[in-house]
Amino acid sequence: MKKLSLLVVTATLASSLWMGSAHAQFAKPEDAVKYRQSALQLIASHFGRMQPVMKGQVPYDAAAIKANVELLKTLSTLPWAGFVEGSQAGTSAKPEIWTDAAGFKAAQAKFEGAVDKLSVAANAGDLDRVRAAFGDVGASCKACHDSYRVKK
Ligand code: HEC
Repeated sequence: MKKLSLLVVTATLASSLWMGSAHAQFAKPEDAVKYRQSALQLIASHFGRMQPVMKGQVPYDAAAIKANVELLKTLSTLPWAGFVEGSQAGTSAKPEIWTDAAGFKAAQAKFEGAVDKLSVAANAGDLDRVRAAFGDVGASCKACHDSYRVKK
């Protein structure tokens, strides 16, 4: 009986530690993982669908690109809250995300800054600038992946 109640206390303590910390918006680590991976999937979708226009395979529709970039801008802020400590197991998140938190944060800022520039170019409706900014966004995805995502 004593053993059982100790187990219950330990489990309650563990879950209240999780709940009480900075990531209280997620009930458990798996939820944080799902959240960030879903956001990254949406980012990849809204980024990737512009590729044919950038390659000149599809005509440039300034309004459509502008609307898509607006979504991308919102999405680009989302994944990071899901990188909570203790949520690495079974994912492609490298431990450096937490051991080098400042570097990971800088990589986010670089990405968001590149998306901001893409947004300015898209609002101006200037394809050459959009194309250049699109390339910079892609480079910022790759830079972060090189350092913080496990290669599969
Ligand atoms: C600041 C770092 C960072 C930036 C910027 C970034 N990613 Fe990632 N990305 C990651 C990490 C870390 C993972 C692994 C996440 C995991 O396994 O939980 C990942 C995973 C992904 C995944 C897989 C998601 C899944 O279902 O497991 C896709 C797709 C992806 N990124 C696309 C992109 C694209 C496209 C961009 C740029 C438009 C981008 N990422 C920008 C860090 C970043």
